[in-house]
Amino acid sequence: MGSVSSKSGVRERSFSVRSPAAMRRLGACLGTLLRTGDFVGLIGDLGAGKTVLTRGIAEGAGVSESEVASPTFAIVYPYRGRALLLHHADLYRLADADELYATGFFDLLGQGATVVEWVDRVPEAMPPERLLVRLVRTGERTRRVELEPLGARHEELARELAQGYRRRAG
Ligand SMILES: Nc1ncnc2c1ncn2[C@@H]1O[C@H](COP(=O)(O)OP(=O)(O)OP(=O)(O)O)[C@@H](O)[C@H]1O
Ligand SMILES: [Mg+2]
Repeated sequence: MGSVSSKSGVRERSFSVRSPAAMRRLGACLGTLLRTGDFVGLIGDLGAGKTVLTRGIAEGAGVSESEVASPTFAIVYPYRGRALLLHHADLYRLADADELYATGFFDLLGQGATVVEWVDRVPEAMPPERLLVRLVRTGERTRRVELEPLGARHEELARELAQGYRRRAG
């Protein structure tokens, strides 16, 4: 787990994650780093591991397991972890940005940290500064995870995540 891809340019930002447990640990690592205002957009096909990663994020943020629903609709779930409010949305079934406006999504962005599955379905959901996490299925139990941060804060978040995860992975 956590081995580093040697693809030039993305070396620092690409992981091979070799089990669901390792994906969860990566999420937990991210969850401990999140602060109010942070935005994490998850991109990947059905079964890529976005919800596994989200459960890890919630765990790291101090949200109890029972609070983490498995959203199948475009609903924003606020979870109160440690001192952090964590919003989780899944845009898979969302028609368009208007529908997202109706949920109150945009009013919540500054109020906590936000994790959004299928964020690429409604690109308007992405604030200009964000961390995109791309998950690609590379085998039955392996996934490639690529971090694409935009903005100074999210660059820092990606750097800390890469360092923290590799340290834990050994
Ligand atoms: N390395 C891995 N990381 C994450 N999940 C893995 C891994 N290997 C196998 N899996 C399995 O892949 C599935 C990922 O499911 P998950 O619900 O997280 O996907 P998802 O990206 O949220 O899909 P959906 O878009 O349908 O919600 C789980 O059954 C998980 O056990
Ligand atoms: Mg999911």
